[in-house]
Amino acid sequence: MSVPLTFDGKVVLVTGAGGGLGREYALAFGQRGASVVVNDLGGNAKGEGKNSAAADKVVEEIKAKGGKAVANYDSVEDGDKLIQSALDAFGRIDIVINNAGILRDRSFGRLSELDWDLIHRVHLRGSFNVTRAAWNHMKKQKFGRIIMTCSAAGIYGNFGQANYSAAKLGLLGLSNTLAIEGRALNIHCNTIAPIANSRLTQNIMPADLLETLKPEYVSPLVLWLCHEQCEENGALFEVGAGWIGKLRWERSLGHVLLQKDHQMSPEAVRDQWGNICDFKDSTHPNTINESLSMLSMLNKEKAEDGLVANPTASLGHNPALAVGYNFPDHTFSYTEMQCILYALGVGMSTKDPDHLRFLYEGHENFACLPTFGVIISQAAVMDSGLTNIPGLDINPTQVLHGEHYLKCFQPLPTSGTLISKASVLDILDKGSGAVIIINVRTYQGQRLVCSNQWSVFVVGAGGFGGKKSSPHTENTASPPNRAPDAVVVESTTKEQAALYRLSGDRNPLHIDPNFSAMGGFKDPILHGLCSFGFASRHILKQYGNNDPARFCAIKVRFVKPVLPGQALQTEMWKEGNRVHFQCKVKETGNLTLSGGYVDLYEDQTSNLKSLQPAADLQSNLVFAEIGRRIQDSGPALVEKVKGLFAWEITQDGKTAAQWTIDLKNGAGALHEGPYSGKADVTITVSDADFMALVQGKVNPQQAFMAGKLKIKGNIMLGQKLDIILKDFAKM
Ligand code: NAI
Repeated sequence: MSVPLTFDGKVVLVTGAGGGLGREYALAFGQRGASVVVNDLGGNAKGEGKNSAAADKVVEEIKAKGGKAVANYDSVEDGDKLIQSALDAFGRIDIVINNAGILRDRSFGRLSELDWDLIHRVHLRGSFNVTRAAWNHMKKQKFGRIIMTCSAAGIYGNFGQANYSAAKLGLLGLSNTLAIEGRALNIHCNTIAPIANSRLTQNIMPADLLETLKPEYVSPLVLWLCHEQCEENGALFEVGAGWIGKLRWERSLGHVLLQKDHQMSPEAVRDQWGNICDFKDSTHPNTINESLSMLSMLNKEKAEDGLVANPTASLGHNPALAVGYNFPDHTFSYTEMQCILYALGVGMSTKDPDHLRFLYEGHENFACLPTFGVIISQAAVMDSGLTNIPGLDINPTQVLHGEHYLKCFQPLPTSGTLISKASVLDILDKGSGAVIIINVRTYQGQRLVCSNQWSVFVVGAGGFGGKKSSPHTENTASPPNRAPDAVVVESTTKEQAALYRLSGDRNPLHIDPNFSAMGGFKDPILHGLCSFGFASRHILKQYGNNDPARFCAIKVRFVKPVLPGQALQTEMWKEGNRVHFQCKVKETGNLTLSGGYVDLYEDQTSNLKSLQPAADLQSNLVFAEIGRRIQDSGPALVEKVKGLFAWEITQDGKTAAQWTIDLKNGAGALHEGPYSGKADVTITVSDADFMALVQGKVNPQQAFMAGKLKIKGNIMLGQKLDIILKDFAKM
């Protein structure tokens, strides 16, 4: 059974609650535990006269049912007096229902200024005054729910209601902006366009229709929108007769009239009218940014056409200039202290004995967490400035980290000086934003240590006509369709973001409440890469024996933010050497990291075992040497070869040994024995012919032609045998 929604401890003001819809809301709130201020001026439907009886009667009704209520008889034009009533009687104000209203219907030609002004004063100015008086109280308590009452007359227009429809749609505009300004303060503002039987509708609708339009069919929506559990904000609903529907804007794809050979002209508009108004391929812009993304597309088209008189060029992108851009090389020097600070930042603690090797530089196995690799690459991207990428005009406040991929080619040194080389790999157009794909390769001397792929989402910068996906990106992967194989839950601390930021990402969004409020968040949020660090070490511990050398790669998509102090729940599915994972916020169940996976390297100890020669074959020595070479420079060999080779070494016509050289996955590996999966190429050769080959007495092509070397599968890979076998001639 679902839990009933209650309003205990909440104080609600309902304006115009002496009758009609307002009365119904007041009764419903009173019944569900709220303290209610019942406001009504008590005039007639045209706004003439005043009377306290209407409000008093509703207060009596609420009290009779055991509720708490006081009356207020002021006009909504004196908004602060209404709020003062709430403060005097109950000490706070949580919820404001702007409902009071009158009608002064006249066809437009006969509409007087008084008709216009009175309607605006009660509906628009009244709602403004009441809401403004409540706003700062809501802001301080970081909670507020506001309802504006619009009308179908405003949304669609209605004969004889020019004054009323203008004021009613004005309320929607007011609500849209309050929703944006209030979002970070947990103040939500929504708008309803009700239809109900009341004195306002009695003379304009048939009696049998009015019978189906009970005010009590509207109040459930109002109560839900005002409940603290409801996240809806900035929305518009039509409601009546037991039905509720949500409204949104729809925009035609439209048509670009200004083109190289076509000037804007009224004739061009006439001629393209069908295209301009065609709703095929329409869109539903939901924010100003989404709406403006259309302009950025136009700017690009204009720029390409050489029509450069372009006042909004700042929204334009020219991927042709940006893709391939190399950031200046970045040098990152660090000591053990930064590794330890990072480990603390991603939640390691001396409480767990397993963590000591990452927290104490004197530990015999002291190591750096593999995900510290993101810190090194971040400096390369951020210090050089996203805003310096040619061809892109990025508003830094609109930048989000969309996805991340990190691959380690060897365990990160615990101190040293590393050089990172970053470049723009691709720019994608996701409509609501642009995605910049940046690759960063980090070297220690000549050795590739790690590479990162950043997917940076720039809100509102899409719609420039670019491609939607790239063959160069590392993609997320869905977890298998079964319950997770392992789940680890761990709390972050209140100080987690404050600690994590010391590793490099000093964005005030993660510590300064004013700044996070501007970004639309209730409280400063945890860095996505901090949750990423938590999740990756959960996996390394669960499946990699906490050994950084086992860590090959990680990919995630950042979904929803985490607040410092919340617990992270990492759910894992092991599939071979890949561990799929996702991360949730324990308290809310919200997914925070999705589509993730960690690839693990084979256990090094079993690798070493495989390097012991098996039988008494000369080739065993060569394979042992190949194994050592893979350990030294596997990543470089993988880059060059990209293939998985199965070897059958024969002696006296029989298989004497089997080897697998994996120069396709991770940092490369050598295994003794048959390969369990499908190799790219299987090579069969006798021990003696193999030695002739590696000693350069015969080359692979000659051996193949002479039938001494059999190659099955991808024969082209046979050409890369030289890379594997070279340099053994001197043995
Ligand atoms: P109603 O006339 O029964 O209720 C409006 C209440 O507002 C009255 O009790 C009136 O005394 C009070 N009021 C008027 N001016 C005031 C002022 N200056 N200060 C304080 N109180 C004042 O009408 P109904 O139908 O319940 O309307 C409620 C709201 O819903 C109004 O804003 C109306 O425009 C809107 N609406 C109603 C529709 C319907 O089908 N009933 C359709 C669309 C919108």
